[in-house]
Amino acid sequence: TNIILLGPPGAGKGTQAKRLVEERGMVQLSTGDMLREARSSGTEMGQRVAAVMDRGELVTDEIVIGLIREKLTSGQASGGYIFDGFPRTLAQADALAELLSELGQSLDHAIEMRVDDEVLVARITGRATCASCGEVYHDTTRPIPADGKCGTCGNTEFTRRADDNEDALRTRLLAYYKQTSPLIGYYHAKGELRSVNGLAPIEDVAAELAEVLGRET
Ligand code: AP5
Ligand code: ZN
Repeated sequence: TNIILLGPPGAGKGTQAKRLVEERGMVQLSTGDMLREARSSGTEMGQRVAAVMDRGELVTDEIVIGLIREKLTSGQASGGYIFDGFPRTLAQADALAELLSELGQSLDHAIEMRVDDEVLVARITGRATCASCGEVYHDTTRPIPADGKCGTCGNTEFTRRADDNEDALRTRLLAYYKQTSPLIGYYHAKGELRSVNGLAPIEDVAAELAEVLGRET
């Protein structure tokens, strides 16, 4: 099963993708994570995209399509792929369809995570990520365990993203509505759109996703 998780910043894409990896052996392909990795390892591309990401704008289609192409052509995912934060433009959506068909694969669902803008500021400004395993926490809705250790890997260091401030979030939201939300209509027209309530507690969102994935053909 290959799925796309579609939703604005803070919708819970990364949180749910991590669960699906653990529970179903799916492979998460997050272009945001790939770009942050390129930055921290100091590649030439990483340096080129840093300022764009910190402002909250989209990096070029060429770069992210290249990253996805590389992952898809180099590996096999028996449990299926979770595309997290990709595609974000119609050009990226077309490129993905083409890539999958080249590989003899197809997309099963594009899953929209519905949320209200009002919750996103609180979600984004409260986020902390395990520096070692990438587990996602939140100051109030999913606190780091009281002993200060990541519940998944035991590490004690957590990071906050440079683009997790109100200014960059405003730009990220604008980019979402302008460039990414048209994909909802696109996947609806293709009969591939599903939708879950991203405002519900993390467990309930996971249950709703399991239902979508359960009615598998
Ligand atoms: P990216 O890394 O993809 O960020 P994003 O889309 O802004 O999404 P986030 O990671 O912020 O949110 P999420 O939905 O994963 O939420 P999470 O689960 O963490 O992109 C970053 C940048 O990279 C872009 O701005 C762009 O510059 C570039 N980029 C990446 N891909 C690109 C592409 N394809 N094309 C062009 N440029 C690209 O949850 C958020 C918080 O809420 C957490 O603290 C979590 O614990 C909490 N939470 C989650 N679910 C719930 C819940 N149900 N209830 C309560 N709290 C919850
Ligand atoms: Zn960890």
